[in-house]
Amino acid sequence: MKLLVVGGGGREHTIIKKLKENPEVTEIFALPGNGGIAADATCVDIAASDIDGIRDFAKDNGIDYAVVAPDDPLVLGCVDALEDAGIPCFGPRANAAIIEGSKVFSKELMKKYGIPTARYESFDDMNAALDYASEAPLPTVIKADGLALGKGVIIAQTHEEARQAITDMMQGGKFGHSGDRVVIEEFLEGPEVSVLAFTDGKAMVPMISSMDHKRAHDHDEGLNTGGMGTVAPNPYYTKEIADRCMREIFIPTMNAMNAEGRTFKGCLYFGLMITKDGPKVIEYNCRFGDPETQVVLPLLETDLLTVMRAVTEDRLSDLDVSFSDRHSCCVILASEGYPEHYEKGFPLDIPEDVRDSVYVAGAAIKDGRLVTNGGRVVGCTAVADTLPDAIKGAYEIADKVRFENRYCRRDIGARALAAYKE
Ligand code: AMP
Ligand code: GLY
Repeated sequence: MKLLVVGGGGREHTIIKKLKENPEVTEIFALPGNGGIAADATCVDIAASDIDGIRDFAKDNGIDYAVVAPDDPLVLGCVDALEDAGIPCFGPRANAAIIEGSKVFSKELMKKYGIPTARYESFDDMNAALDYASEAPLPTVIKADGLALGKGVIIAQTHEEARQAITDMMQGGKFGHSGDRVVIEEFLEGPEVSVLAFTDGKAMVPMISSMDHKRAHDHDEGLNTGGMGTVAPNPYYTKEIADRCMREIFIPTMNAMNAEGRTFKGCLYFGLMITKDGPKVIEYNCRFGDPETQVVLPLLETDLLTVMRAVTEDRLSDLDVSFSDRHSCCVILASEGYPEHYEKGFPLDIPEDVRDSVYVAGAAIKDGRLVTNGGRVVGCTAVADTLPDAIKGAYEIADKVRFENRYCRRDIGARALAAYKE
C-alpha cells in the first residue's frame, strides 16, 4: 500500500514510524515532511495547506490511503478534497473540523448539548465585548474564534489586560480573521489532561491520557509554546474521571456532532480540566495533539493503520484497540529563544542507536547533512515500566542528540511524579 501523510512535524514523524510497522505498507509520502522525516518517508515539497496540490499529488501517484494530521488542512477541507477524488482518508471533513476551527462553534455546541465547559459569552461586536470584559470576574479568559497557532488564548489578570487583548484581536488583526469574533469565558482551575480518541461517529475509543507541558521553562514559567514535553498516562485521569468523561463528554460530543449533521471521523482531541466540579472541556482539537502523539502512539499495541482504516470504513466498534500499561515520556529539544526568536541551520546529530526513539519536528537537509530548521527540533521518547524510568530514559536519549543552541526543560514529568505521591 502507498500511503500519504500530510504534515511535517514531530507528530507526523511519530505517525509515520507507527504506520511503517504494518507489513502491507510499501511506501509513505510526507507532504511536506522534513529533513528528519526523510529517513522514514519520501518527502515532497507540497505545503500542508496546498489542498489542490495534495489532491493532485495523491491522484497522480496512486495513493491508497491518506492521513491528514495538522489542523489547517483539515479545517480547509483537505479530507473532503481527497475523498471526493476517491482516496480514502483518516481525518474529519471540514464540516466536522470546525469543532477546532471555530471556538464560537464549539462553545455553542457544548451549551446546546449540555457538555460541561467554562461559562462564556461570544461577541462579534468589539464594543459589546469591551463592555462585558470590563465587568467580568478576574482572571478572565479571552479567546480568538479561529485557529491561532495555539496563541489565541489570553488569561487576563486585570480588566485593562482583558480590554487590550480584545482590541488586539478584534481591531489590531493580531490573528487575522481568527480574531473577528471572540469568546470571553470563565477562568477554570484544576489539573489539565489531554485525551485523544479514535471515533468513526458510531464508536468512541479513547487512547491513553497524557499531560502536556506548555510553558517554555522549568516550573511552568515563561511563554506558552506548542509543548515542551509530555508524559502518558496522566495520573490525574483516574478510572472514575475516565468513566465520567466518557459519559458526560466523549459520547455526548460524538452524538452532538451527529445530530448537527457533522459526523466527526478521525482523532478527536479533548483538552480537559479536572475542576472541583468534575471534568470540563477547555478545548477540542480535530486531530492528534503535538507532542501528545509522541507519548501516546508508542503505547498503542494494535496496528495503527488497521485502526485508522476501521475509522474510515465505519467499523471501529469491531476492533479491539489495546494500549500497553507502561509509561512514556517525551522531552522536546528546542532552539534557544523559542517560542520567540531563535537561530536555525545548525548541524543536527542524532546517533544511530537512539534514532528509533527520536521524532524530528524541525530539521532540513542542507548540503547533504541534517540541520536544525525550527523552534522545536526533536522529541525524544522513552517507554518503561515506571514513570521514573521513562523520564530517565527520555533524558538519556535527549542528551545524546546534539546541536548548537539546544535547550530543553529539565522537569518534564515532575508534576506527574508528584501527583502519584499525593
Ligand atoms: P487552548 O488554546 O484553548 O488550549 O488554551 C490554552 C491554554 O489556556 C490551556 O491549555 C489552558 O491552560 C488555558 N486555558 C484555556 N481556557 C481556560 C479557562 N477557561 N480557564 C483556565 N485556563 C484556561
Ligand atoms: N499539544 C497541544 C496541541 O496539540 O494542540
